[in-house]
Amino acid sequence: MATLLHLDSSGQHENSVSRKLTAHYVDLWRKSNPEGRVIYRDLVKSDIGFLTNEHIVAFNSPRESLNASQQKLIEFPDVLMQELQDADVILFGAPMYNFSVPAVLKAWIDMIVRAGLTYSFAGGTPQGLLKNKRAVVVTTSGGDYSQAPMQQYDFVEPWFRTILGFIGITDVTVFRSFGTNPEVIATSSKLAEQAIEREFAILAS
Ligand SMILES: Cc1cc2nc3c(=O)[nH]c(=O)nc-3n(C[C@H](O)[C@H](O)[C@H](O)COP(=O)(O)O)c2cc1C
Repeated sequence: MATLLHLDSSGQHENSVSRKLTAHYVDLWRKSNPEGRVIYRDLVKSDIGFLTNEHIVAFNSPRESLNASQQKLIEFPDVLMQELQDADVILFGAPMYNFSVPAVLKAWIDMIVRAGLTYSFAGGTPQGLLKNKRAVVVTTSGGDYSQAPMQQYDFVEPWFRTILGFIGITDVTVFRSFGTNPEVIATSSKLAEQAIEREFAILAS
């Protein structure tokens, strides 16, 4: 059964462009995968918290050596890890915040990039351990960063490609929408919707 992991990270709700676009992607994905499973996680409401020394120690210790409080601490990060492991496609709703991604999305990444589980340095070279997964990133911003000279200030797409590649996900598709006034946002998000629709038309053919 195909599984889609849908992660939203916008602090906005009804007015969020990225949430509307990821919802559109999910609608189309469900139509193409009627038997598929969608795991939804709103990272803003998930209370992931930030990585601490205790997490790092527990993540890097053998399972059987963990005490009760360490086991408790990594219970939720392990749920996040399982959701990722189960997914064939990971869909990210990622508004640009201060030239990068929202902190809640970075917090999720910090919980799932783990030695021995998603990457390995065995043999001295880094190796991504996730196989046969693809990622779809829907990124929204006030400015248009798709071309020079603004492109150099975009730390969203290059970051996604780098960190996802590091854990083995090299098939990454990015959809963008931008704008600060309602008309530009409407036009740009319509174009992003159409680009998403084209992806499904191509996948279906
Ligand atoms: C805290 C915050 C920081 C932002 N930082 C940037 C930025 O660095 N560059 C930019 O072009 N837009 C920035 N924006 C605008 C958002 O990226 C834009 O409104 C986008 O549509 C938000 O996604 P959403 O509609 O899904 O919430 C920022 C917005 C907020 C709320």
